[in-house]
Amino acid sequence: MMTTHKAHCLIFPYPAQGHINPMLQFSKRLQSKGVKITIATTKSFLKTMQELSTPVSIEAISDGYDDGGYEQADSFAAYITRFKEVGSNTLSQLIETLTTRGCPVNCIVYDPFLPWAVEVGNKFGLVTAAFFTQSCAVDNIYYHVLKGVIKLPPIEVDKEIIVPGLVTIESSDVPTFVSNPESAKILEMLVDQFSNLENVDWVLINSFYELENEVIDWMSKLYPISTIGPTIPSVYLDKRLPNDKEYGLSVFKPMTNECLNWLNHQPISSVVYVSFGSYAKVEPEQMEELAWGLKKSDNNFLWVVRSTEESKLPNNFLEELASEKGLVVSWCPQLQVLEHKSIGCFLTHCGWNSTLEAISLGVPMVTMPQWSDQPINAKLVKNIWEIGVRAKQDEKGIVRREVIEECIKIVMEEEKGKKIRDNAKKWKELARNAVDEGGTSDKNIEEFVSKLVTIS
Ligand code: UDX
Repeated sequence: MMTTHKAHCLIFPYPAQGHINPMLQFSKRLQSKGVKITIATTKSFLKTMQELSTPVSIEAISDGYDDGGYEQADSFAAYITRFKEVGSNTLSQLIETLTTRGCPVNCIVYDPFLPWAVEVGNKFGLVTAAFFTQSCAVDNIYYHVLKGVIKLPPIEVDKEIIVPGLVTIESSDVPTFVSNPESAKILEMLVDQFSNLENVDWVLINSFYELENEVIDWMSKLYPISTIGPTIPSVYLDKRLPNDKEYGLSVFKPMTNECLNWLNHQPISSVVYVSFGSYAKVEPEQMEELAWGLKKSDNNFLWVVRSTEESKLPNNFLEELASEKGLVVSWCPQLQVLEHKSIGCFLTHCGWNSTLEAISLGVPMVTMPQWSDQPINAKLVKNIWEIGVRAKQDEKGIVRREVIEECIKIVMEEEKGKKIRDNAKKWKELARNAVDEGGTSDKNIEEFVSKLVTIS
């Protein structure tokens, strides 16, 4: 029996954990509104993924590096160049195959890290929608690098920078790819996100209006911006899609039972949850300071240390220190953890997904940004939303144990942290309202679907 759908969207994320997940969650929302979804990802990335719960179909295409993806390439520049050459063909072939199977595609929702997808979409006369997985503030910064408002390195230390649409930022808030000359190729890709953006039909942003209203208003004068976030599974927010507990696709296998069983035995709001996401490589000296800072703060802790990072833990840490007060795991079901009543604060690198997840679940933060967009996210958490404190680095770039201890204490215990904890509850409500029926993001998704149906 043929199923009838309102339209068919091909979703094309950059192959990385922090990109595929928000696009998958957005896909589920579209699917719940009657849109057929196919996600296209690379063969090598698909091989690495643990399939937890994917009610949408996934197709693999070649990026020219089928064995190891990015790891197989000589350099990031080589990867991006070959992905464009090979991917333009393999993505086109997939669209043709889907048509042959009787499922023609109407719209391509692509990750602007791969801007050439617009040309593929245009070739087939598809509606094109860019999906920015990072904050609107960060997108605005890259736009202003393109326009020369933010000068390329070297950026003077401690200099204030005025960026239209944003609060005044300091040079240390700018994404690390802007200030580090060694990241020139990555920066080129980030700036390139805007190279053909005036030709697309939609610019979707994983954020919500209330969270970033000023910068969204500013960017909306340039592009057809539509905020559709936070892309958290519905079960944690508006609950309109039941049975959606599992987070989605993961490169790592979560130690779900260990984490939840352990948390179930901890007192309410007593646990510091610590994670630096899927990429960041923490300096061994920093790992040591973190370990001692957690110990000194005297709180229970759940710390995600990916297996590639484990050797950096201090000697005997797992046997002695961690067993007293903490649990160290290689990966956890982060949303279920953040939602757990035992969690008191989140010590985070401020990746955008982690930041949005903490906001959506009302968890106050201690921020320790590592690289990429994380410094500006940390700035917003502390200065604008006032839902966390920032653990400051010393002149060597290391956050010392005393600073970590003090920050945790502020957020978890002291009167000083009350405002932060109250604000976290306020933002949780606002995030829920945005995706709930009639909320700003929900309305934007409705509008996207109904325009798609008209065009299709
Ligand atoms: C990267 C960049 O670091 C980030 O700054 C950018 O905004 C997106 O790409 P990542 O470092 O992985 O992402 O951080 P983040 O964006 O926070 O994404 C991590 C995801 O992994 C989150 O969705 C989080 O819920 C999930 N996660 C993390 C788990 O499910 N389990 C864990 O144990 C840790």
